[in-house]
Amino acid sequence: MGTRGRTVHGDPANAGHRVLAPDDLEVEAYLEQALHGPMERVTDQPPDPQTIIVLDFGGQYAQLIARRIRELNVYSVLLPHDTPWEEIERRRPVGIILSGGPASVYDADAPQADPRLWEGRIPVLGICYGVQLMAHQLGGRVAPAERREYGPATIRAVANEPLLAGLPASAPVWMSHGDSILEPPPGFRGIAASESTPYAAMANDHGLMGLQFHPEVIHTPNGREILANFALGIAGARGDWTAGSFIGSTVATIRAEVGDGRVICALSGGVDSAVAATLVQRAVGDQLTCIYVDTGLMRKRESELLRATFEQNLGMQLRMVDARDRFLARLRGVTDPEEKRRIIGDEFIRVFEEEAASLGPIDFLVQGTLYPDVIESKTVESKAAAKIKTHHNVGGLPADLRFTLVEPLRYLFKDEVRRVGAELGLPEAMIQRQPFPGPGLAIRVIGEVTASRLETLREADWIVLDEIKAAGLYAELWQSFAILTPIDTVGVMGDGRTYANVVAVRAVTSDDGMTADWARLPYELLARISSRIVNEVPGVNRVVYDISSKPPATIEWE
Ligand code: XMP
Repeated sequence: MGTRGRTVHGDPANAGHRVLAPDDLEVEAYLEQALHGPMERVTDQPPDPQTIIVLDFGGQYAQLIARRIRELNVYSVLLPHDTPWEEIERRRPVGIILSGGPASVYDADAPQADPRLWEGRIPVLGICYGVQLMAHQLGGRVAPAERREYGPATIRAVANEPLLAGLPASAPVWMSHGDSILEPPPGFRGIAASESTPYAAMANDHGLMGLQFHPEVIHTPNGREILANFALGIAGARGDWTAGSFIGSTVATIRAEVGDGRVICALSGGVDSAVAATLVQRAVGDQLTCIYVDTGLMRKRESELLRATFEQNLGMQLRMVDARDRFLARLRGVTDPEEKRRIIGDEFIRVFEEEAASLGPIDFLVQGTLYPDVIESKTVESKAAAKIKTHHNVGGLPADLRFTLVEPLRYLFKDEVRRVGAELGLPEAMIQRQPFPGPGLAIRVIGEVTASRLETLREADWIVLDEIKAAGLYAELWQSFAILTPIDTVGVMGDGRTYANVVAVRAVTSDDGMTADWARLPYELLARISSRIVNEVPGVNRVVYDISSKPPATIEWE
């Protein structure tokens, strides 16, 4: 059980660790905890697309490189820099990229690369630390630059170099490095120069090349072309890894792995479980049963949208469990936010268990796990995600409920999941949904959660979203919602005094939920939201707008 001032994970509040549990992750976490340790999974190999491996030397942009390659419709994975060569070969990559990193090649514990990388059997592109390592290990000279080069620079590219094909003679790039290549290794030539170095880029004739600057960041406007020159030109990838091809191959893999087994999936209302379930249904049809636990903590019309989408449109076997009373009963009298979270996780597992048991023998469980959760080179964020899962104090599932996991989204980033969802024909409202916490409205009704307080919040929240959508701002905002405060204030209505609830409105912009700023919503929009809430929602006479950023506040109030 948590205490006030602590997050779900027991860390001091505002430590930012709740961030990776938006959307579906919570339901995933409940189940994963309850399953007692790792389950067997059907496959840990993607369905054999052409791959570019990004070796992670600890740079902040390593994941971004993999994403940029995927934007070229080439599948890309991120692996730790010390991945054994045998493992790299087993994956039969068409190209390898070495990421940047904070080390200097001369540091005692500087991360090294397997020398077999340099044999030139597979094209290799080093970026920043990656190219310095290439120069250093192959006998060139790398030294600390006179001054650390950070920020915009201009390069002049040598003509007719395949890596820089199509670039203007002089191109802006983004530099961030302390060391510089003074002398390239034997057999290498400079292919671009900047003001501070003649070796802003280098290459040899045997498929090895590198860039001192960062092509993956938006401040290098020609970066995409350079990465395309490498992936599609030099490495020869076909660029045919699209949402459509992913669906085709994934459906075939699931069908082969599941055979005539029976599958269940817990739908949360979020995009991940929706897309995962739809893929599995395409593969095995009625062998899949989906379970949706209606906790009563969802927003207005969400459960209805779910039923319409899955049962009516997709013809899915859907078990909607009305557990609203059970959740309310267990939440009665509870005001501590962490206690609310614990109760909801535990009750969710209890309901799921009963439903699963009533279905008879089940072989497989669908999980909407995403790539950032499984990236082998653990980044700070993925460690934080792992932590989220271990802190959910939910009870276990009985030993006879054992499943093999089917995780069709293990290879995808969130935006790729959305694209697959769109290709599968899922409704926009489900695919583009802003993050919504697993414990739902329970952590937005401050204080005790009751049916009538939930109803008040649901109505106010609906108006907030309705107006934000009408103003065309929904997609721009990270989250926008209402909070029901435990405060009553005095008001006047007609001739009488009222004493009624204060609703707070929260709208934030953010890239990842780790930090956030309050959205500068137009006054007119705020005015409409306020007047509609006090006029249309019984029991509310005052609306306030939350103008706190994160940190020091959090996005949610509890
Ligand atoms: P905070 O309030 O910590 O929220 O700034 C950061 C992000 O995490 C979401 N959040 C949660 N998601 N279970 C979840 O699944 C939770 O207990 C939880 N608490 C916060 C929040 O909505 C925001 O996107």
